[in-house]
Amino acid sequence: MDQDFSSVDKILQEYEGKKGNLIPILQAIQRQKGYISKSVIRYVSEKMHIPMAEICGVVTFYAMFHLEPQGEHIIKVCKGTACHVADVDSIKEAILDFLKLEEGENTTADGKFTVMEVACLGCCSLSPVIMIDNQTFGQLTPDAIPGILRQF
Ligand code: FES
Repeated sequence: MDQDFSSVDKILQEYEGKKGNLIPILQAIQRQKGYISKSVIRYVSEKMHIPMAEICGVVTFYAMFHLEPQGEHIIKVCKGTACHVADVDSIKEAILDFLKLEEGENTTADGKFTVMEVACLGCCSLSPVIMIDNQTFGQLTPDAIPGILRQF
């Protein structure tokens, strides 16, 4: 657990610890640490006199915030309607299989990949679609997954 809050203090100073600046403060913390840990939420709550529940509400509401460390590569699996119809579930299964992740686990033990489900990625004609970092892969079959993941 990260107990060094000096960098958080600097960010709070920069934004004068103002309640209206909570989102930019959390964004700055995440930029620095990669995610918003529970201990950071507790610390910010004490320093800014904002209830923890309120900060947790913000962090869980906005998809840009992460409560856990993220992998080096982010795999977004589209769960939009077109991809659902095109059996994206079998693609996700192939990804979890290849990465040896159990259902409910998101990040590989070596920290290389994080898998997440997202809403329509905007290229339904290519369904089923996944995105790895900024690269889109479409018209996928489960067999294609190992070859794609080995590129990373
Ligand atoms: S539903 Fe998957 S890209 Fe639109």
